Amino acid sequence: MRKLIFGLFIAVLPALGLAAGAGVPLDHIETDHTDKQSLQSGAALFTNYCMGCHSMEYARYKRVADDLEVPVALYEENLIFTGAKIGELMKNSMSKDMAAGWFGAPPPDLTLESRLRGEAWVYSYLRGFYKDETRPLGVNNVVFANVGMPHVMVDLQGLCAVPPSIGVGASVEPLSGNVKNGDACPEYAIEGSMTAAEFDKAMYDLTNFLSYMADPVKVERERLGIFVLIFVAIFFVFAYLLNREYWKDVH
Ligand code: HEC
Repeated sequence: MRKLIFGLFIAVLPALGLAAGAGVPLDHIETDHTDKQSLQSGAALFTNYCMGCHSMEYARYKRVADDLEVPVALYEENLIFTGAKIGELMKNSMSKDMAAGWFGAPPPDLTLESRLRGEAWVYSYLRGFYKDETRPLGVNNVVFANVGMPHVMVDLQGLCAVPPSIGVGASVEPLSGNVKNGDACPEYAIEGSMTAAEFDKAMYDLTNFLSYMADPVKVERERLGIFVLIFVAIFFVFAYLLNREYWKDVH
């Protein structure tokens, strides 16, 4: 009995771990790895805005180009800035030690980031920057308090003047009919080139891309899974008939 109770306790441990991770409210996101256009635009954003600091060193350019259906020559020309060959790992040349000196913490590799933190966390984090003069870089983040990363997409989003309301969702005030929290950020200190909706879509694409990088075989796995289940269902009929045949003389 004691063993059983101990076994049950071990079984629920991972669930407790997850519960502890969900501290801040997050905006939900439904990623779609079959949406190649979204993944391509995410890859372009990542290469242009993130890869100077963050590597993806557990993946190869070639694999990404093939999966995203980008011709190799086009990929090499537009999405590799380091002079690397298409078959190489997606590394960058930032020194971890020097970066730690500049930002307080080195920018981590992001290949598995969406598995580590969750897609909702990444999506919310990317939209969670706001102006905070008390921080060394003048910005803070509602999802990652006192983050060392600068707001690198300020030219796209602009800079939110107050902490944006992430994880609250839009609602309609019953008396006035006004929409509350339609946009996460109500007021900007610096205007960006995108509208709030455009930026949300861009961050959806970027999160979709990060989610694909962390699990590149997801689409293939799910496709195969259906065939495996069909096989198991058909095999069950034969296994059942065989079992009946074996036992028919045993009373
Ligand atoms: C100028 C360098 C720089 C650029 C460019 C940059 N980051 Fe960062 N990023 C950092 C640093 C430094 C940290 C670590 C912050 C800390 O731990 O306080 C970080 C942290 C992160 C984290 C959190 C990692 C974790 O789990 O602790 C994510 C996610 C992230 N960056 C995504 C991005 C994305 C997506 C882009 C491109 C839009 C990007 N970063 C561009 C420097 C950068």
